[in-house]
Amino acid sequence: MPNDSRRMFLMSIGCLGALCASSAQTLAQAPSVRNLKTEGKRIITIYFSWAGSCRDVAHEVQRLIGGDLVELKTQVPYPAKYEDTVNRAKAERKANLRPPLQPIPDLSGYDIVCIGHPIWSGSMPMALYGFFESQDLSGKTLVHFNTHGGSGQGDSHREIARLEPKAQLLEGLAVYGWRGVRDLPSVERWLKHIGLIS
Ligand SMILES: Cc1cc2nc3c(=O)[nH]c(=O)nc-3n(C[C@H](O)[C@H](O)[C@H](O)COP(=O)(O)O)c2cc1C
Repeated sequence: MPNDSRRMFLMSIGCLGALCASSAQTLAQAPSVRNLKTEGKRIITIYFSWAGSCRDVAHEVQRLIGGDLVELKTQVPYPAKYEDTVNRAKAERKANLRPPLQPIPDLSGYDIVCIGHPIWSGSMPMALYGFFESQDLSGKTLVHFNTHGGSGQGDSHREIARLEPKAQLLEGLAVYGWRGVRDLPSVERWLKHIGLIS
């Protein structure tokens, strides 16, 4: 092949490659189509996160099923230092405290409530107990996920079932999230498995 034609040929192959790459990226980023279970339903994802892992999972849940996204925050933030947060969390659990929360939207108009939190001492942070005790989620579909450093769900799923007996609690997802989430795609697999996306 003469040099000029060869250069043109290589350039067009390069452009084609770039085009394919960008359309593959667009496809991968497209949110899954909503199915009948979520069509027309009002959805909210609420999460508590200290170091960001549960926040990442919550964002992925919301990206895939749509609806609103709200962060649950305590009025007094937890310290930045890990040991200090562990100490405060342990003291709150020992004293059976409910650390006051910043206001969140009225949940009465939502049909599907997704709730996520990290595992602290094998369970939900005490702030989550305060959240569930202050809400009546009867009749709603409750979608539970958590991040953890090895404890899986701990007793959190059982506790939510106990605290919200009149909600329809779907099978939960526990994502390993010590210093970052490695398996974010597990969120999509799980949402498909529980029938919230197709
Ligand atoms: C106060 C505290 C207690 C924790 N206790 C546990 C535990 O009992 N079991 C566990 O697997 N991970 C535990 N972890 C680790 C977190 O659950 C894990 O890193 C989680 O993914 C953090 O989520 P986040 O980044 O959204 O805060 C604890 C972390 C903190 C800060």
